[in-house]
Amino acid sequence: MDLFNFIAGKLHCEEVSVAKIAEEVGTPFYLYSANTLKRHISAFNNALSSLDHLVCFAVKANSNLQVLNIVGKQGAGADIVSGGELFRALKAGIPAEKIVYSGVGKTKPEISQALEAGILMFNMESLEEMEAICSVAANLGKKAQVSFRVNPDVDPKTHPYISTGLKKNKFGLPIVEALEAYKEAVQRNELEVVGISCHIGSQITELSPFVDALKRVLRVADALKKEGVGIKYIDIGGGVGIRYKDETPPTPEEYGKAIADILAGTDFTVIVEPGRAIAGNAGILVTRLIYTKETPEKTFYIVDAAMNDLARPSLYKAYHEIVAVEERDVPWKAVDVVGPICETGDFLARDRELPQMEPGDLLAVKSAGAYGFTMSSNYNSRPRPPEVVVSGNDFWIARKRETYEDLVRGETIREIA
Ligand code: LLP
Repeated sequence: MDLFNFIAGKLHCEEVSVAKIAEEVGTPFYLYSANTLKRHISAFNNALSSLDHLVCFAVKANSNLQVLNIVGKQGAGADIVSGGELFRALKAGIPAEKIVYSGVGKTKPEISQALEAGILMFNMESLEEMEAICSVAANLGKKAQVSFRVNPDVDPKTHPYISTGLKKNKFGLPIVEALEAYKEAVQRNELEVVGISCHIGSQITELSPFVDALKRVLRVADALKKEGVGIKYIDIGGGVGIRYKDETPPTPEEYGKAIADILAGTDFTVIVEPGRAIAGNAGILVTRLIYTKETPEKTFYIVDAAMNDLARPSLYKAYHEIVAVEERDVPWKAVDVVGPICETGDFLARDRELPQMEPGDLLAVKSAGAYGFTMSSNYNSRPRPPEVVVSGNDFWIARKRETYEDLVRGETIREIA
């Protein structure tokens, strides 16, 4: 459920007209609904209420400070994968003791930063990483709370680029090696083994892969218990899909119930790391039509947002619904919605039925709140768009539009002979 609706033929975010925001901030811009974010966090919290649980929002989905602050105030922690994400999460007010750190390539400086901050848990992805954590912890005279991220080898049935829990993927420790690895970890004075984790992929639209993965992880946790290795946290990662077009992903309620059914009667604290399911449908990208271009083959809507602003269509051929911000009673036709970037791959939609529109008209690219701005770039020296947040009838710029000066920040020219 999101809060982007048409009121009297005009697209609104909560109570604010999208066209009005466009007048004030210019286009393109990202627009997030604070109350949708809050609802989504609550939905996960409610769904897991029968268990001890912690929802750690995956910062990679949307790392805007205001967004992190909103989800943090709803009680969420953060799932991070870099020192930069740790910096953002802390700056946004998320307590370190609610932060879990995943990722295959944590560097020693990053590990040190996280240990100093006092995060809840490192999800270790290899024995090599375990050695690095031990050496940093020894230097700092600290104990690191850790889990192993295991690779449960289940097929999440999603796009191959975002499948992570298959044997052939680079993520996690092969589940068959987990027991030995844990035996090694509990010997180390620098470590406190507190959990086990996994993450099998993203935009997963069925429950069964989550259920299979959790059962496999639970078997390892039980085997560890028999060996005397007590574990408090079971972190089952993120991955719950959203509706972009006609998918029917599990609701947080269904997902929560499936987890609760498996974990009922155990004393584990379950951690979930949703990103897309929290932020995806809480955001849109608003863009303005610059030109319509007719060729013998096609009609192009050339808009002022491009693949540098929203990479998903180009990168994954991802479908994002596009709507005219103002409904009009005009004929519809199939068009390609493309940006100004000098690549054929620069499109937001292909062969899409849209109403006939004029230059200056506004379009909204939906479901853009996750992996939208965070994957944006300055390609073609395009300043990145602002991020605007709406709450009720109020809106504000949570991140300013970049300027040309921002584009060259940090660059210098040395005169050479
Ligand atoms: N936890 C870990 C360890 C992850 O690697 C991810 C996402 C998540 C949680 C959150 O997954 P979510 O709940 O958002 O599915 N750029 C791609 C998605 C990449 C996801 C990477 N990992 C896209 O635009 O579809």
